[in-house]
Amino acid sequence: MDKENKPYGAHVLALPYPSQGHINPMLQFCKRLVSKGLKATLVVTNFIYSSRNPKSGSVQIDAISDGYDEGGFMQAESIQAYLARLEAVGSGSLVELINKYKNTPHPIDCVVYDAFLPWALEVTKPLGLIGASFFTQPCGVNFIYYYVKRGLLTVPVTSWPVSIPGLPLLESEDMPSFIYVPGSYPAYFELVLNQFLNVDQADFVLVNTFYKLEDEVVDTMSKIRPLITIGPTIPSFYLDNRLDDGNDYGLHLFNLDDPSICTNWLNTKPKGSVVYVSFGSMANLGEKQMEELACGLKGSNHYFLWVVRTSEEEKLPKKFMEETSEKGLLVKWSPQLQVLSSEAVGCFFSHGGWNSSIEALSLGVPMVVMPQWTDQTTNAKFVRDVWKVGIRVKVDENGLVGREEIEGCIREVMEGERAKEIKENAMRWKVLAKEAVSEGGTSDKNLDEFVSTLTSSSY
Ligand code: UDX
Repeated sequence: MDKENKPYGAHVLALPYPSQGHINPMLQFCKRLVSKGLKATLVVTNFIYSSRNPKSGSVQIDAISDGYDEGGFMQAESIQAYLARLEAVGSGSLVELINKYKNTPHPIDCVVYDAFLPWALEVTKPLGLIGASFFTQPCGVNFIYYYVKRGLLTVPVTSWPVSIPGLPLLESEDMPSFIYVPGSYPAYFELVLNQFLNVDQADFVLVNTFYKLEDEVVDTMSKIRPLITIGPTIPSFYLDNRLDDGNDYGLHLFNLDDPSICTNWLNTKPKGSVVYVSFGSMANLGEKQMEELACGLKGSNHYFLWVVRTSEEEKLPKKFMEETSEKGLLVKWSPQLQVLSSEAVGCFFSHGGWNSSIEALSLGVPMVVMPQWTDQTTNAKFVRDVWKVGIRVKVDENGLVGREEIEGCIREVMEGERAKEIKENAMRWKVLAKEAVSEGGTSDKNLDEFVSTLTSSSY
C-alpha cells in the first residue's frame, strides 16, 4: 500500500528491553505516536505476553521470542546467557514478526528499538526500515558511557573528580555503579556500553529526557550525534493534574491489586503528609537494610506507603506492619503515577531509577534517593546537586544506610529547613516538564518532526 493511501501516517514497531523500566517509557512513547496519528505496536516477549495478557488501549501489543517462552529471564542461568539468547532467538523472531505485517494493510515502516538491543538495527536495516534507537536512561548517564566506549575515559578511573563536557564534576560515588565499583556486573556494563555499538547507523536517536532538564549535555552530545529529546513520556493526563480517569495506563509485570487501595488510602491523608517508598522493579535490599528502612520510616513518624514486592516480603521485620498499621500501607506493587500525582505524597523515598526520578520530578515530588546500582548513583547526583529536587542518603562504613540516617533524610525533605526550597524546585521542574510535552514544547516539537519525517514521502 502506498503511503498516501494509508489510513494512518506510518506503522511504528517499538521494541523495549523486556523489563519494567524499559517497557513503561516505550509504551507511553507509543501512545504519543498514536495521538499524532501513527499506528504503534509495542513488542514484548512471548513470556510477558502470555503471563500478563497485556491490553493497552490505543497501542497494539505483539510478541517475539527471547528463547525463554516458559519463564522469561528467570529461566536463564545467568544474565550473559539471557542476553545471548535474547539476541540469537530475538533477531529471527523480530524479522518474522515484521514479515507477518508485510502484506497486511499496515506493514511496518519504522522500528524504534531500545538502545540496549543494538542488534535490532542490524536485522531491520536490511529490510529497508527506518531504525530509531531509544535511550531509556538520562542523557548525562549515556554520555558517560559514550566516553568509556570511545576510550575517552578509562575504567578503573585513577583520578577524581572526572570532568566530562556538559556534566558537573563527578566524584566516584556519582558514577554509574559499573564505574564506581569496577568489575561489577560485567554483562550489564557491556550492555550499556554497547548502546553505542552501531548508533551511527541509526536514523534517529531518541532520549527519554527533556531539553531544559539536561540542556548542556544534550547540546554537547548532539554535536557528536544529533539527539531527539522526547520526554517525559508520562501520560499528559498526570502532568495536567487530573487525578483519576478510571484508566490504568501501564503494562505491569507485577500483580497490581486494586489500584484504588492506594488512592483511597492516600485520599484520607493530609496534603504532603505521606512518604512513598519504592525501589522499582529490580533492586533487592538485604535483610538488615530492610530492617533499617522499616525502623527509619517508623522513627520519622510520617505516614508511609511502601511497595514491597513479593520477593522482598520475607525480609520485613516480624510484626512491623502490626506495629505501624496506623501509619503505613504496604502493597506489593503500586499504580506509581497515580500515587505520585496524589497531593498527599510529600516525598518519594526511592532507588533513583530513571523512570522513578523523572516521574517524581515531572510531578513535583521531592525525593530522598538511596541508589542501589546502574544509573541510579548518577541520577542521585543530578537529583541532589543539579536539579536540587531531593537529597541522597549517606552509607555508613558497613555499607548500610542506618535508621537514623533514613529518619533524618525523610525529616529533612518533609519538614526540615530545606524542605520548602526543595519543594519549590520540584514544582518548577513540574512546570517545565509539562511545558516540554505540551503543544509547541521542545519534546512535542521534536516528536512532530520525527512523525513528519516518518510520514513524508522521501522515506
Ligand atoms: C531499571 C533501573 O533500576 C533504572 O535505574 C533504569 O534507569 C531502568 O531500569 P527499575 O528498577 O524498574 O528500572 O526502576 P525505574 O526506572 O524507576 O522504573 C520502574 C517503573 O515501574 C516506573 O515507571 C514506575 O512508575 C513503575 N512502578 C514501580 C510501578 O508502576 N509501581 C511500583 O510499585 C513500582
